[in-house]
Amino acid sequence: MKKTFKPNFLWGGAIAANQCEGAWNVDGRGASVADAMTAGTKDIPRRITLELDPDAYYPNHEAIDFYHRYKEDIALFAEMGFKSLRLSISWSRIYPNGDELVPNEKGLQFYEDLFKELRKYNIEPLVTIWHFDTPLYLIEKYGGWSNRKLIKFFDHYARTVFTEFKGLVKYWLTFNEINNTIMGLGLFYEAKEEDYQRAYQHLHHQFVASAHAVKIGHEIDSENKIGCMICGITSYPATCDPKDVLANRYQWEKSIFYCGDVQCFGKYPTYAKRLWDEHNVKLDITEQDLIDLKEGTVDMYTFSYYMSSLITTHEIADAVGGNFTTGARNEYLQYSDWGWAFDPDGLQYYLEMIYDRYQRPLMVVENGLGAFDTVEEDGTIHDDYRIDYYRDHILAMDKAINNGVDLIAYTTWGCIDLVSAGTGEMRKRYGFIYVDKHDDGTGTMKRSPKDSFYWYQKVIQSNGQD
Ligand code: BG6
Repeated sequence: MKKTFKPNFLWGGAIAANQCEGAWNVDGRGASVADAMTAGTKDIPRRITLELDPDAYYPNHEAIDFYHRYKEDIALFAEMGFKSLRLSISWSRIYPNGDELVPNEKGLQFYEDLFKELRKYNIEPLVTIWHFDTPLYLIEKYGGWSNRKLIKFFDHYARTVFTEFKGLVKYWLTFNEINNTIMGLGLFYEAKEEDYQRAYQHLHHQFVASAHAVKIGHEIDSENKIGCMICGITSYPATCDPKDVLANRYQWEKSIFYCGDVQCFGKYPTYAKRLWDEHNVKLDITEQDLIDLKEGTVDMYTFSYYMSSLITTHEIADAVGGNFTTGARNEYLQYSDWGWAFDPDGLQYYLEMIYDRYQRPLMVVENGLGAFDTVEEDGTIHDDYRIDYYRDHILAMDKAINNGVDLIAYTTWGCIDLVSAGTGEMRKRYGFIYVDKHDDGTGTMKRSPKDSFYWYQKVIQSNGQD
């Protein structure tokens, strides 16, 4: 293999506050929408209950207790040789309701300590400002992101974290998987026109908030590098029927390019009009919004990649999917126990397509396999399926880099087992580190390295050569 990865390539892992910190009501933290989500399974969807249901289990409340155990976890990441850790700040730990003027000092202190701990091991923090966890109060009082007022609250929150963590954090992402809001629309249920209207307006407000955050972040520290974060799913036409080919192009536009184009080019693309007209969407966009979008374009494009999907206009006999999308089964691919397609070539396709379009540094900030793990009697965990998954995706990155793509980071998802965002399960495990915590909330929380832990350590040590 050629020496593909740059010497300063950011190998690492990724986690999110709501899925690992726990301590949901500790040290002044307010509840977020993730705390209102009950546990689900692959077949039973999670519910959002604004009032806590005494008969339900809320897995994010305790999660893996990273809040109290982060030193132990970071030491393990350092042992693997991580160059970077992607994590998120919980908005409601900084502003418990989301609309206060004065931040919660204990929340700020927690993240300052955490970032310093990472720096101690020369691990570069890559910080997501919003990862699916709007403060619950903002949903109850203002109705969430379809209300323009949230832009102002987010600006204030972003300004606070950029100011407080100046010098400690250089790489930032604004909204995690911002495209999810429209990607799944109409796929899982019959969406009405008002659903489209609300979703596109919600997204517009997040675009403006993201552009403001980019501007604020650059103004506070010109060293800051700030990216968008897109849920990257490579889709293919299921047949050579030209209608499928066109449908697939439209899928890319709606699900992938719409957000990337606004955040990288600073304006709505031509096809946006078609997308809006299809559902009679009339957006409230001010002149100032348009200026802000132009001035707040991102420095880098980052994305998650787990799978590909098949698009067809024909009847689908066997639908599969996950992560906000669904489509026909691809007979050339293997699927995980949760129905996610294993498709490393799709990652190469995505990297090359996106780099060509945006010509700015790329980061793969999530990639991984959610699988059942078995703990052997001696405590070892042999997850060769996970090693196979990573090996093939890293080889795909290698090819894309050799073809000219400027890829600067790879942070695997759920480098330590954590609560699944989609199902709320623990048994859907992604980690190199096993956490003894189960779907019913029991477990000792003990951390144990899996075989993949030592394998990834070798990958990092050899900078991807081995
Ligand atoms: C992405 C999210 O959608 O995929 C993560 O950014 C999430 O938060 C990950 O955990 C994997 O999805 P899931 O549903 O298996 O947790």
